[in-house]
Amino acid sequence: MTFKSLEMRKLGPGNLRAIEIGVTSRCNFRCSYCGAYDLLERKILSVEDVARVIDSLPDLERVKLSGGEVLLEFDICVGIIEYCTAHGISTQINSNGTLLNDEKFNRLEAAGLDVLHFSLNHTDAARHAEFYKVTEKMFPKIVYAVERAVASPTIDAVVETILFNETEKTMADVHRFAADLGVAKHEIQMEIPSLHQGYENTLDHDRICDSIVELVQARRPETTMFFSCLSAYFRPGSAHWARLQPLFQDPGVIYASCIEGKAQLHLHSNGDVMICELGNPDVIGNVFDTDMLAIYENSPRLQAFVRSKHEDQTFSCFRHFDFPGQTEAQKKTGLTALPMPSVRK
Ligand SMILES: C[S@@+](CC[C@H](N)C(=O)[O-])C[C@H]1O[C@@H](n2cnc3c(N)ncnc32)[C@H](O)[C@@H]1O
Ligand code: SF4
Repeated sequence: MTFKSLEMRKLGPGNLRAIEIGVTSRCNFRCSYCGAYDLLERKILSVEDVARVIDSLPDLERVKLSGGEVLLEFDICVGIIEYCTAHGISTQINSNGTLLNDEKFNRLEAAGLDVLHFSLNHTDAARHAEFYKVTEKMFPKIVYAVERAVASPTIDAVVETILFNETEKTMADVHRFAADLGVAKHEIQMEIPSLHQGYENTLDHDRICDSIVELVQARRPETTMFFSCLSAYFRPGSAHWARLQPLFQDPGVIYASCIEGKAQLHLHSNGDVMICELGNPDVIGNVFDTDMLAIYENSPRLQAFVRSKHEDQTFSCFRHFDFPGQTEAQKKTGLTALPMPSVRK
């Protein structure tokens, strides 16, 4: 299975084919935009916990490990990847790239990891350090990790950049920087205003469209761009939607459909199951109480979500549905969002 192949199949509801697992919520960063659910949660899923979940899902094709920074629990990640590899299940790790070294790369390769996905929103150490409030030593670590992943004979290296006010004018620069490192797959993630952050940093639709058009014009021919969560912002039939659609005629520019709640669920480190960690962190069950397949098949809230949010054209998440209680900030950005469920106390 290749990166985003499930999203490119435009999977509707029916079979749970993918799970995203927050092995841990702990993280060595505190990104201002971070939408990871409950970063203060201190529980950790064991390899056995995850194996039990995997065994209960007959249609499972892909496991993505994403926290927090899951590489803080490196041995558990390796154990889960080995288990998936032995069962023919594709694996991906999402990482900030700061905790890897050669020995760890060798172990990930030996375990059979398929995709290493790095966050990259900057092109220089000084701005990276200033934005994240970390030391300038972090950025070269990320660059090394990306280069090492690119050089791997077995691991597919992916870089992800969030489109938000910090990167609006520099998306093309980050793309060229990643391409120069040898990265062939660049995911562009629309910012999902997080529970922690509110809506203040979100760009308006014109600025998002301008940035995307400029970025696609800068695409290096040897690379593929994958756009995620676009439908969270743009209503089909709108002028912005119409402006962007021709871009996706190019086979190097992929519209990644949303499979959250339909073919994928998120498993949090305390066993909570969510529809989508970023866009709809609504807890619909816990694997320590209920079998994950039973949660997927029987949750009335999941069924309601799929009924109201699934569209054949966009596979959209919730943000284009009108929402009566919009705040002034939401009105300013044109977002029409449902209220976020609150984080469990
Ligand atoms: C929560 S992080 C966990 C993995 C790892 N710590 C990292 O930063 O890549 C997973 C992905 O979610 C993205 N992300 C975090 N907050 C987001 C937000 N508010 N909107 C969109 N993407 C977000 C990050 O850029 C990252 O690529
Ligand atoms: S986005 Fe990733 S690196 Fe940043 S705080 Fe969230 S989990 Fe940590």
